[in-house]
Amino acid sequence: MQLRTLAQTSVDEKTILLRADFNVPLKNGEVQDKTRLVESLPTIQFLLEKGAKVVLCSHLGRPKGQVMEELRLDAVGFELSKLLGKPVLKLNDCIGPEVLTAISAVPFGTVLLLENLRFHPEEEANDAAFAAALAEGKDLYVSDAFGTVHRAHASTVGVTKYLPSYAGFLVQKEVDVLSGILEHPKKPVALVVGGAKIDTKIGILEKFLDIADVFVIGGALANTFLLAQGYSIGTSLCEVEKVEVAKRFLATAAGKTVLLPTDVVVAADITPGLPTQEVAVNAVPAGQKILDLGTQTRAAFADALASVATVLWNGPMGLYEVESFAAGTRELAEALAELPAVKVIGGGDTIDALTHFGVPIEKFTHISTGGGAMLEFLEGKMLPGVEALLAQ
Ligand code: 3PG
Repeated sequence: MQLRTLAQTSVDEKTILLRADFNVPLKNGEVQDKTRLVESLPTIQFLLEKGAKVVLCSHLGRPKGQVMEELRLDAVGFELSKLLGKPVLKLNDCIGPEVLTAISAVPFGTVLLLENLRFHPEEEANDAAFAAALAEGKDLYVSDAFGTVHRAHASTVGVTKYLPSYAGFLVQKEVDVLSGILEHPKKPVALVVGGAKIDTKIGILEKFLDIADVFVIGGALANTFLLAQGYSIGTSLCEVEKVEVAKRFLATAAGKTVLLPTDVVVAADITPGLPTQEVAVNAVPAGQKILDLGTQTRAAFADALASVATVLWNGPMGLYEVESFAAGTRELAEALAELPAVKVIGGGDTIDALTHFGVPIEKFTHISTGGGAMLEFLEGKMLPGVEALLAQ
């Protein structure tokens, strides 16, 4: 997949609209996970070194076209400024005459940050006039928002009709690494999926029937598969209406190695401090919830992964935020960290789990900044924000 890249244009003394994905977790007005900010630095720094004026834009959360004070991008601007070691001029809107005046008033080499794009309903509606307003006063558009390329919004697609458009280094890197897994992975390949929802994972599970040799399924997602296999799962989180989807996958995957939990950690509820026990999957007591992988399962998962050459992991194995249910995700993260394989990880929770357990991200080949975008890309879909950057 060939994208139009920054190597194909000159950015010197140009005003660049740079779409980033600064949709980061905030707590008490502070950025909790800086991965997406750090990953945006190479493109910003390159543009600055070339003497461009960099106008950053992003969404944050889902304000649905309303101004929400807690979703302003000021905290992002503050962190970014620390990471870049230079001021970031945060504006209070993303379009309009005041924004244009502020942009033209500053010299080349300045970084500006526009306000949350989704304060305007026209962003998600991919409104042409809004896209044109975003493009106004800029010479080029650069997309580095890999986490948002699955959205056909004004700032990811619409704007490319009004400005010469290029992929930034992050989008380029994500597309190269993930295409490599789809097109020429080092075999054997394992797909490890956890988390809660089957809908967001079934596409990749089915796509990987042609690519993966080993499937490892954990988290609440596994509960629906256990139900499909006829086990009673007490009061565990599951999607009863998706049991047929799980059955279909298990039938199609016959002949592949598909690992599901054989023992699990259960408790009456997720409240920390309640008694827990480990039981076989055919002995989950009524009124108890499956909240983590059991000892045998953790060993079996690590064992199955020990001999693969590529692992793709998305979604925690249990309720890792609570210590009594953390072992499944922790042991998987630690085992993968030491594995001599191509290791690609994606999804906010999965990355958060690594940070939570202090597992260094440097031990992994690639940490994708895309959650939904990574999954949809790996399903083999042509994503709108990527299609808009394709070289002709
Ligand atoms: C993400 O965090 O996955 C992206 O920023 C996309 O956000 P969205 O799901 O609100 O479009």
